[in-house]
Amino acid sequence: MTPNMEEKFRYLAERYNPDGEFENKLYVQCNAKRGLRNADGTGIVAGLTRVSNVHGYLVNEYERVPVDGELYYRGVNVKDIVEACEKEDRFGYDEASWLLLFGELPTRDDLSLYSSMIENCRKIPNNFIDDNIMRTPSRDIMNMLARSVLALYNYDDNPDDCSEENSLRQSMELIGRLPVMMVAAYQAKRRAYDYKSMYLHMPQDGLSTAENILSTLRADRQFTHEEALLLDRCMILHAEHGGGNNSAFVCRAVTSSATDIYSSIAAAIGALKGPRHGGANLKVCAMLDDIKEHVKDVHDDGEILAYLKKIFAGEAGDGSGLIYGMGHAVYTKSDPRAVILKREAEKMVDEKGFRDDFTLLDAVERLSPSILNSKMIDNTGICANVDMYSGLVYRMLGIPRELFTPLFAVARMSGWCAHRLEEIQTSHKIMRPAYRPMSKKVEYVDLDKRK
Ligand code: COA
Repeated sequence: MTPNMEEKFRYLAERYNPDGEFENKLYVQCNAKRGLRNADGTGIVAGLTRVSNVHGYLVNEYERVPVDGELYYRGVNVKDIVEACEKEDRFGYDEASWLLLFGELPTRDDLSLYSSMIENCRKIPNNFIDDNIMRTPSRDIMNMLARSVLALYNYDDNPDDCSEENSLRQSMELIGRLPVMMVAAYQAKRRAYDYKSMYLHMPQDGLSTAENILSTLRADRQFTHEEALLLDRCMILHAEHGGGNNSAFVCRAVTSSATDIYSSIAAAIGALKGPRHGGANLKVCAMLDDIKEHVKDVHDDGEILAYLKKIFAGEAGDGSGLIYGMGHAVYTKSDPRAVILKREAEKMVDEKGFRDDFTLLDAVERLSPSILNSKMIDNTGICANVDMYSGLVYRMLGIPRELFTPLFAVARMSGWCAHRLEEIQTSHKIMRPAYRPMSKKVEYVDLDKRK
């Protein structure tokens, strides 16, 4: 930007004169739902879904009663999916993905058909990577993923057809392609912005999505079975989280206009990119590093608690007053994803040299509620959320921080597609909420008479 333009933008920014925030009482008076939430913090009911159920509390006599969190995909408890995969020592993301898309657990034959279809979908159209990723690399991989998804429209012979059959085909293609596009986008960024070597490995047939991600991401393509299983578990747990989570809701809202899948999914990726949504695990990592810098002994609860109080007061950390990795809009006593991920992560912390980090995160989880409870609207309590441990998992797997949120998007693609399909099948109505106008009438003044 030229200095002249910069100066003009600065001038215009000074001219920008918003009236300020609307007071909370105005929202109450107008029955406007800030953040589409009810007064008790619960989300307003914007639709009906069979895709998943996020269960975080019971309601008794109009009061929320905290319970251990449960997450169900199409009625199946996600804990059971993870446990079954552990028992059989197998990968489970494709199973969860099929379940979300097709609405029931796959048979062995279904699963093998689906995995082979996804394998085929990893084969990206000729020149796509060269033209859309290598020639225009981005510093931000989420930005690149949104652009790449939009670009796929031009490689689809039937992009606007919203029939179930076509939508399923497009969904599977997106589920197969996004991991490949993510790794390519990262490699292009390494070369263009970090001045590091770029290696473009091709996905290998016969490998799961998690194995393919590790194999194409690493220069030597080497990884252990345990590393790939850990990534797979992380992907199962991130595959879906209800229709009300911000990106799924965005996906459904865009879908409700009957537009194409690429527009809906690109919008969802844009929503997930925000630090209030998918970017929180990066914030947890930054917080962890900051605590490590300021706390001498990771076993000293007193020292850690004192520092957490400073973070909460906005005097330490990023100054926001947030203790990242804690709290959730629905879960109260526990977030099942955090419980499982913590257990899975602990299996690897000693081998990978991350015991101190684990101990610290565990301390944040144990000690923060005593500080945060004072802020809670009711006495439902506060628990660690999935982001408390997902960053640690990615770090242990040597995954670069730029890919933390993109990996979330890769896993969540199944959930978004399931919601899009459900919106198409069940809603038949464009989403169109209202905003109460708050501006006063102002007389139009002729251009020459304005001061
Ligand atoms: N640190 C500091 N304050 C927190 C907090 C945290 N971890 N979690 C909640 N609070 C505050 C909220 O900001 C809110 O304050 P306000 O009334 O001044 O707006 C109050 O406690 C009540 O919050 P609640 O209604 O229980 O949660 P929410 O639905 O508004 O927010 C989160 C949910 C996840 C956005 C919130 O817990 C948060 O910001 N956590 C930290 C970031 C994070 O880990 N995000 C990942 C989510 S998976």
